[in-house]
Amino acid sequence: MTTTLLQVEQLQAGYGRSQVLFDISLQLVPGEAITLLGRNGMGRSTTVSCLFGLLPVTRGTIHFAGTRTDNQPSHRIARLGMGLVPEGRQVFPLLTLEENLVATAQNPGNKGRWHLEEVFRFFPRLRERRRNLGTQLSGGEQQMLAIGRALMTNPSLLVLDEATEGLRPWCVQRFGQCCARSRRKAWR
Ligand SMILES: Nc1ncnc2c1ncn2[C@@H]1O[C@H](COP(=O)(O)OP(=O)(O)OP(=O)(O)O)[C@@H](O)[C@H]1O
Ligand SMILES: [Mg+2]
Repeated sequence: MTTTLLQVEQLQAGYGRSQVLFDISLQLVPGEAITLLGRNGMGRSTTVSCLFGLLPVTRGTIHFAGTRTDNQPSHRIARLGMGLVPEGRQVFPLLTLEENLVATAQNPGNKGRWHLEEVFRFFPRLRERRRNLGTQLSGGEQQMLAIGRALMTNPSLLVLDEATEGLRPWCVQRFGQCCARSRRKAWR
């Protein structure tokens, strides 16, 4: 029997009195990928915010990795194994690129699949810019950093919100292959 990794049931949320999500339900098993499609303003980033504890859930439930996680703090959800590449990158502007990468990493002793050297191997441009502050990076460099930072948490579920925005095609393709490889491994 395949264990469910993420189960969202009849999720409702919004901003103040404006309701955005109306009974969203979805289920994900390890190795599976789900894409949320729709025109601008349909509520994808809002859904992602709820998954990650960044926005209160007003009704419904979220279970991740066997734990009920709706309205739990983000750091607890991250520790359970959810990684996020947020819309708009959200890099820490006053930390260096390298500090950004290690600040939220979960890979003691470089034991995880993703550690600093591995991220630098994957995105060589990041190694060159490792001493630069977040504010000194270009849009594409910030996007690579946002992806690298999420990978460094060695997540069992990677949530991507416009994750390849501003990246050159070579990087997009490489990242796509990396995601496909991770999914194949999760199936085994
Ligand atoms: N902080 C906020 N305060 C109030 N309303 C918001 C806020 N953020 C988003 N909204 C509204 O919630 C709705 C859903 O927005 P959301 O960002 O989830 O859309 P999206 O599907 O991610 O769209 P996009 O493709 O533009 O990223 C929109 O109508 C938006 O105007
Ligand atoms: Mg969005």
